[in-house]
Amino acid sequence: MPFFKMTGVSVVACLLGVMSLTQTFKVTPEPPSWPSAFSVGFHEDWNISVIPSNDGAWYYDYTIRRARFDHLQGQSNNFCQGRGLTLKDNHSDCHLIFAPEMYVHYPREKQCCRACAPALAEGCTVLKPAWLTGAKYIGKQNISGMVCHGWEKQGAKAADRWYQTEDGTPCQYYEKFGFPIYAHHMLTFNISTYKVGPVQGSVFDVPNYWVVSFTQTFRLTLDPQPPTWPSAFSIAFYEEIFVFIAPISGNEGAWHYDYANGRARHVRALPSGETVLPGCTVLKPAWLTGAKYIGKQTISGMVCNGWEKQGAKAADRWFQTEEGMPCQYSESYKLRPELHTVTFSNVTYKVGPIKDSIFHVPKYCNRTCPSPYKPPPRIGL
Ligand SMILES: *[C@@H]1O[C@H](CO)[C@@H](O)[C@H](O)[C@H]1NC(C)=O
Ligand SMILES: *[C@@H]1O[C@H](CO)[C@@H](O)[C@H](O)[C@H]1NC(C)=O
Ligand SMILES: *[C@@H]1O[C@H](CO)[C@@H](O)[C@H](O)[C@H]1NC(C)=O
Ligand SMILES: *[C@@H]1O[C@H](CO)[C@@H](O)[C@H](O)[C@H]1NC(C)=O
Ligand SMILES: *[C@@H]1O[C@H](CO)[C@@H](O)[C@H](O)[C@H]1NC(C)=O
Ligand SMILES: *[C@@H]1O[C@H](CO)[C@@H](O)[C@H](O)[C@H]1NC(C)=O
Repeated sequence: MPFFKMTGVSVVACLLGVMSLTQTFKVTPEPPSWPSAFSVGFHEDWNISVIPSNDGAWYYDYTIRRARFDHLQGQSNNFCQGRGLTLKDNHSDCHLIFAPEMYVHYPREKQCCRACAPALAEGCTVLKPAWLTGAKYIGKQNISGMVCHGWEKQGAKAADRWYQTEDGTPCQYYEKFGFPIYAHHMLTFNISTYKVGPVQGSVFDVPNYWVVSFTQTFRLTLDPQPPTWPSAFSIAFYEEIFVFIAPISGNEGAWHYDYANGRARHVRALPSGETVLPGCTVLKPAWLTGAKYIGKQTISGMVCNGWEKQGAKAADRWFQTEEGMPCQYSESYKLRPELHTVTFSNVTYKVGPIKDSIFHVPKYCNRTCPSPYKPPPRIGL
């Protein structure tokens, strides 16, 4: 550009130059940090048709340096696969537990091992909330109908992208691989499962979410002892009454239980009614003390352990999964051919601060995988 001839054209050009400088220096959104604790469910896809998609969930609590990334039935996760475990189904539910070293756990098969050697190799540890530091802003994109901002960070093998809404709700995690496997892989988050921070004290007022913080208190030892209820929880259920095994009534409802405050609420959707559950006082969390183990039963597709306790008029039974998820409560009367069941809806996500137990590493994990993962230097999700 001729600098000293300030013709009309060059004045315009200079102005444009100034404008584009302004644009270059325009502040782009800084990479976000993850909240220090959150959980979220997702759907996982590859753009390779032979790799099926699957669901999953992340549980993350950096304050205790723990995370659990669940890749559920159908998964082809590169940490889960190829660890040398003897499995009936290589693609069944797989939990990556960071405690802080990464374990590969197939809970249905009770197979588990430390995934990496060395155990704390790069890419094998809990991501820092600020893992996106230095990432480049890549603009907005419409994901699941939401306007999401994206940032990109280069790893050795893949470019990682993170999308979230303006208010910080995760939209998508995306990885793009180059040579030798041109493919992309993404986790699209289900925002209705996204939970940050502690459970609100208003849980009794607004029962529109189901607290599942059972895992710790309900977790079983190898010799299944009667579990103790957590001191506070709420859960949705389907209630039925059978006479001579014929169902005569059914309704939805919810339990809200807070023993510390001596409160419990049993809400029936139909027929309308609200009663204290199930006796006339708030049950103690340890009400099952002395109950007899009655083995496993499949309820709503889940394998549940059961305990039975005899009362004067009825036998009470309680079923829950190995991980502590309530399956069913039932009463069968001694003098009437009547069975009363309360079957809990199986909830796939939890609310509030993540209990340490979700990161529990079973004893049988204490070994390095027969075929440990050789981590490339990149972020592993
Ligand atoms: C699981 O994967 C391993 C390694 O790829 C393979 O040897 C084994 O046969 C697979 N098992 C099943 C049941 O497909
Ligand atoms: C996002 O895309 C969908 C269809 O692809 C469209 O219906 C929707 O209006 C878009 N939303 C926004 C906020 O742009
Ligand atoms: C999958 O995505 C990658 C990167 O976006 C692309 O290069 C590749 O062609 C895609 N493959 C298919 C089968 O669509
Ligand atoms: C998101 O999660 C909710 C609650 O678990 C579920 O009802 C809904 O179907 C999920 N949506 C998708 C798209 O998976
Ligand atoms: C919830 O129940 C449905 C059907 O009853 C079952 O297909 C699904 O696997 C269950 N989910 C969990 C997490 O157990
Ligand atoms: C794992 O096993 C080793 C010995 O093999 C033992 O020293 C260690 O305490 C065990 N760790 C845990 C967490 O059980």
